[in-house]
Amino acid sequence: MRILFLAHAFNSLTQRLFVELQGQGHEISVEFDINDVVTEEAVALYRPDLVVAPFLKRAIPERVWRQYVCLVVHPGIVGDRGPSALDWAVLNGERHWGVTVLRANEEMDAGDVWASCEFPMRDATKASIYRNEVTEAAVAAVLGAVEDFEAGATPRALSELAGGARGELRPLMRQADRGIDWRRDDMAAIWRKIRCADGFPGVRDSLYGRELLLYDARPEERLRGEPGEVIARSGGAICRATVDGAVWIGHLRDRQAAHPFKLPATRLLAKETAGLPEIAGQDGYRDIWYQEADGVGYLHFPFYNGAMGSEQCQRLRQAYIEARGRGTRVIVLMGGPDYWSNGMHLNLIEAAESPADESWRNINAIDDLALEIINTDSHLTIAALRGNAGAGGVFLARCADQVWAREGVILNPHYKDMGNLYGSEYWSYLLPRCAGEANAERITQARLPMGTEEAMSLGLVDVAFGGSARGFVQETVRRAASLAEEMDMARFLDTKRARRAADEAAKPLQRYRDQELEHMRLNFYGFDSSYHVARYNFVYKVPKSRTPVTIARHRRTDERMRRAL
Ligand code: COA
Repeated sequence: MRILFLAHAFNSLTQRLFVELQGQGHEISVEFDINDVVTEEAVALYRPDLVVAPFLKRAIPERVWRQYVCLVVHPGIVGDRGPSALDWAVLNGERHWGVTVLRANEEMDAGDVWASCEFPMRDATKASIYRNEVTEAAVAAVLGAVEDFEAGATPRALSELAGGARGELRPLMRQADRGIDWRRDDMAAIWRKIRCADGFPGVRDSLYGRELLLYDARPEERLRGEPGEVIARSGGAICRATVDGAVWIGHLRDRQAAHPFKLPATRLLAKETAGLPEIAGQDGYRDIWYQEADGVGYLHFPFYNGAMGSEQCQRLRQAYIEARGRGTRVIVLMGGPDYWSNGMHLNLIEAAESPADESWRNINAIDDLALEIINTDSHLTIAALRGNAGAGGVFLARCADQVWAREGVILNPHYKDMGNLYGSEYWSYLLPRCAGEANAERITQARLPMGTEEAMSLGLVDVAFGGSARGFVQETVRRAASLAEEMDMARFLDTKRARRAADEAAKPLQRYRDQELEHMRLNFYGFDSSYHVARYNFVYKVPKSRTPVTIARHRRTDERMRRAL
């Protein structure tokens, strides 16, 4: 079938459904929800068999839903309605939640039900639930609904199904619903309030006389202080006392500041928090840690949003070198639960005095880390992708000997969407080596997301398993331990050294790096400011004014000619 996606943005869920439905043999074209006229034009150009709305913030125009069957993905259980479905589910501590696929009609979220899928809730941020449980449930529900639609089935009326259901119409959640009373709320309540607003919109609060939005909270069991008082700092985070303990707050946003986007808390409140006691090591807010078991070292780096700043790359490189110095046989690079890595830290770059200089510093810091991984000749190295990876993050993973991915992970192994960025992380060595020159060229030009099946066929991923993050980690630990025990390591390392030496003789890594950085220097310092404009738009979340033709097939001249013939 020809399926048109109407979406507010090509976000992770939209990308995942794009990959899954294409995998089922459907043709997908995407149009961003810019305004009703543009949507109607897209439908007229594409004449789809079906419309799917994976992520919409506005209603579908009447002229469209009257003419076409439009499936809307709602991140709530049957009967749930309203724009803050997941926020309420997290705040209210729901034990089970779900996704419903409805047919669009005149009332938001009130159409007939095509499919639904429930899941147990986890203690996590709203964004994390969305990227994991909601995404998996939405895939199951949408695939089921599309299959039913193709088979000529009809949906069931919401009134028929919602009779005994828990779902109900809930209003937009406001800051007053999330507000923290530091003198009354306990740690668990505060943690829940911040998590239900993380990644968007954050919880409004006042600190040092400034109105700030809070994100990235973690409980602190040991430290104590006056409720509401900021009592310590650790890396990028500050620690604030509650009535029964304390919470770490990793990220803040000050909408009135010169840089009104999310930044690490101690970066935004540098002066105010300079005199606080610094909690280092295991006790504070950790964004890098190491574990060891059965001859395997596991390096975790759950950086917020997968963004890796210069200093984070340097610390991770140091931690990696230390891991390599241990008497283990295998090192597993675990990344974080939501993202493995999304490359350099665009917010920190945007906030730097010289974004060009900071981009340069950041890309060199990632390259230094990548180099250590590529040059490791003492261990089998594995990148274990529980969550998605984008841009430089994909190639950083490919530096390892093996890339293992959770089934359902989405990769974006390209840079050009960020203002024609050339890219670094030795991608020009790694990508053709695994995928071949022709595929490497196609991937960089196409700028499309890919699932694990395609990534495996291109050698970007070696193996995919474990549908859930938990299952994936358990299986990773089992497989890594058995490799550490059973693998003929001496033979493996000999082969690895020989291959690296042959590659080095053919073209030294330094040459790849120099060539990539020559292009990057032009991106950062040259006359063409596209990268700086694209980064600004990304960090400031400037809405897109048109859908890129890479995903809007119906707007491509070649596609329209093909269909006209
Ligand atoms: N630096 C800083 N923040 C980043 C980031 C980066 N490299 N990559 C993602 N983020 C942030 C987003 O701003 C967003 O922030 P929010 O919590 O305030 O909403 C959050 O991570 C999630 O990103 P989003 O784009 O909504 O997620 P997605 O899963 O739908 O898309 C990507 C993932 C990777 C396709 C997309 O985030 C992207 O293009 N990132 C930039 C990659 C890049 O160009 N890196 C630099 C070159 S190495």
